[in-house]
Parts: sequence; structure tokens; C-alpha cells
Amino acid sequence: MKEKVSKNSMINLNLEFVDEAVDKQELAKIFNKGEKALEKLIELSREKAAGTGWFDLPINYDKEEFLRILELASQIRDEADVFLLIGIGGSYLGAKAFTDALVPDMGCERVRRHKQIPEIIFVGNNFHPRPLYDLLDHISDKSVYANVISKSGSTLETAIAFRIIRSYLEERYGDEANNRIIATTDLQDGALRDMANRKGYETFSIPGNVGGRFSVLTAVGLLPLAVAGINVDHVLQGALDMKLDFERKALESSIFKYAVVRNYLYQKGYEIEILTGFEPDLESFAEWWKQLFGESEGKEGKGIFPASLSYSRDLHSMGQYVQEGPRKLFETFIHVLEQRVDLVIPEDYEDIDGLNYLSGRSLAEVQDMALRGTSLAHKDGGVPNMRIEVPRLNAYYLGALVFFFETACALSAYINDVSPFTQDGVEAYKQNMFVLLDKPGTEDLKEELESRFHG
Ligand code: PA5
Repeated sequence: MKEKVSKNSMINLNLEFVDEAVDKQELAKIFNKGEKALEKLIELSREKAAGTGWFDLPINYDKEEFLRILELASQIRDEADVFLLIGIGGSYLGAKAFTDALVPDMGCERVRRHKQIPEIIFVGNNFHPRPLYDLLDHISDKSVYANVISKSGSTLETAIAFRIIRSYLEERYGDEANNRIIATTDLQDGALRDMANRKGYETFSIPGNVGGRFSVLTAVGLLPLAVAGINVDHVLQGALDMKLDFERKALESSIFKYAVVRNYLYQKGYEIEILTGFEPDLESFAEWWKQLFGESEGKEGKGIFPASLSYSRDLHSMGQYVQEGPRKLFETFIHVLEQRVDLVIPEDYEDIDGLNYLSGRSLAEVQDMALRGTSLAHKDGGVPNMRIEVPRLNAYYLGALVFFFETACALSAYINDVSPFTQDGVEAYKQNMFVLLDKPGTEDLKEELESRFHG
């Protein structure tokens, strides 16, 4: 196993538990498709084709907007007890991934106050009344800022939550409410842009050729991250270094290899990829990853199903299935090589629990052995697995991981001959819902739709 690496080593892909299973000819076919996918990505991003703007974000981000983000974040940190992030899908998952990974004490009042980080609450990512109902009570005696994020400006979950929160803030703060609402949306179009213009909100823009799930390195993610006290310079630097590493190594890069190997496994019948690891702080990151790959690849009857598990917790629930269930699974472990903190297991002279063989050893060491044991057992059980080795969990490496997966995702989709940047399938449920909710313009469809329900 690769040992801890020195400062600023880049992310590495360890394939030792895939290699044995590899059929060289099949792999070569996918490799060739990968080569073409790589050329296509580079060419399309050079042409600034639709959806490819994220590829250059680590270099070409809006510097003026970046300074405004830092300034506003500092003001919010001074003035807010609570920062509401109203958004769904790509408009919130990235920020949640980072804050859950890097601000593990978000729920701890004392630490938060000490660091001057407002409580960050994610709303508008479902229709359920309970979270909003509780929220209005929770924030009643707190200083509140709200960042509504929607590229289209018309997503119903976000728009409804925003209407309720806006009405609450306007009632509570009067005209001052407009200074506490920040809108992150398309540069020109959409209902949210119109409203922001009319009400005079501070606004940030989502570049036209950056889709929601690829937008965490725009104001969509950067403002909430800066409010959360995460060093956004480090995030962008990590993404940039990952990009440079990818461009330098190209077909030898870990990003390219990951895209090729996962598609090789897919062709071999491994239809489900489990992103996993022994890092509870990365559970929300896995949710971001699932959206990125699921929405980008699941099309035309194709696509690896992205799933996630959090070990060792889930070894005691789903571990049995992984070890012995249908052999359609492969795993991608995120292996963080150096923990931020550690604890040593104490000696107990009575040793009633029989654990003295572990005395003096650290939890990080136990965890590493658990990871090694698990990946070997799963490989032996017919679950090929690879390990993405990340030197440390910090803003820099999370930025690098974002670029790693975004690029691998685009390459994978091209390898599979689908467009990574569309999500037409998401419209189907919305259309039905709009008809059932009597949205103007859908009247003609109502009767036919209702006749299909028998309950
Ligand atoms: O990746 C995407 O484009 C989507 O998942 C969107 O992020 C999500 O649907 C939210 O859309 P919007 O930002 O327009 O409200």
C-alpha cells in the first residue's frame, strides 16, 4: 500500500484490486474510446461549447466576482447567525459536500461562534413542510441572511421555499430584507434574475456554459464556502493543480485511468459503482458525486448506477450484500492517507474486553487496516475495487477532487456515447406534477393524466 505522501502530492489512483481481473483486449478498446473522449473534451472546451465552461473555471473564474464573494462573505460572517442556502441539485450539493467535510462542527454552537461561522442551513431541496415549518421557528430570534441559488430561476422546490422565506424576511425586516437576500442565478434570464433586479438584491452569476452539477467552483459554491470559513483560494488552487496534472499526464493521468477503468468494468457487466471509504465526513460529498454521475451518464438506456456507502458503518448493514450479493458491483474507495486528528487506544490492565493487543495503536491505523481488509475481501468476493488516494481532507484536496470527478465524468459520458451536459429526463416528473397542480397552460393534459390514476 502507498504510504503517506508529502505536502501537495496530487491525487493518485490505486488499481491493485482491479488489475487481476483485467482482459487486456477489452481494456484496450475502452482505452481507445477514452483517447477520443479526451480529444473531444479538449476540443469542445476550447470552442467553449455548451456545458463545458467548468473545465476552465480553475483558471478563468470571474476575478471581480470572486472579490465580491470574499467581501460579502466576511460581512455575512460578521452579521449573520444563520445563513440559509435555498437550492436543489447542483445548486446546493457542492456547498453541502464541502461544509460537511470541512466544518464538521457545524452543529456545535461553541465552535461555530468561536470561528464566527453562521449556522448554514440548506433548504428548498424538497417539498416537505416540516423542515420549513421548523426553520421559521428556529430562526425567529436570529439574524438571518438567505442565498437563493437557481440557474433556471424556476425550479419549483427552490422557488416555493424562497417565496415562503422571502415573505417571512420581508415581514420581519421590511425593506432591509432586500439587503439580506442574495440571488445566484443566470446572468440575464429567468424569474429569479427579474426579481433580483426589481428588488435590488445583491446577485452573483452562473456562467451560461456551466451546468448546475458542474457549478460548485462558481459563486454557487464559493459564496457559501467562504461564509463557512473555507479557504476558497485553496479550493481553486487544488482544482487548478489537478487540472494541470491532468493536462500534463493526459492518458497517464489518474483521471483518465479512472474514467477508462470504470467503463471497462461497466462493459464487463459491473453496472453499479459504489463510492465508498472510511470517511464519515465525505458522506455529503458522495451525494454530490452521485448527482454528477447519475445526471450526466444515465441516458439512452445506458449508464453506471452511482451508489454510495459509508464504511465501516455500512459494512454492518450493506456489507453482506456487497460481499455475497449479485456480482454487478464495483467499488471506488476514497482513501484519505493522513487524518486531521487521531486518538490512541489506551491500555487497560484488566483487559476484560480483550483489546490490549490494540493498546497504543491509533484509530487511524485501525481504520487503515479496516480499509485494506475490506478492499481485499471485496475483491476476493468478486467486487473489483479501486482506491482514489487523497493525501489529506482539506479545501485544497476537495477542490482537486471536484475537478477530478467532473473531468472523469465528462470523459466517461463521451466513452459511453452520451452527452454529459443534458438532463432531459428530469423534466418528465415535473410535467406531470405541473399538470396535477393546475399550472396555467397545462389544462388540456389534466383529464388524460388523471384517468391513469386508479386510486
Ligand atoms: O445539474 C443540474 O443542472 C440540475 O441538477 C440542477 O442543478 C437542479 O435541477 C437545480 O436547477 P436550478 O439551479 O435551475 O434551480
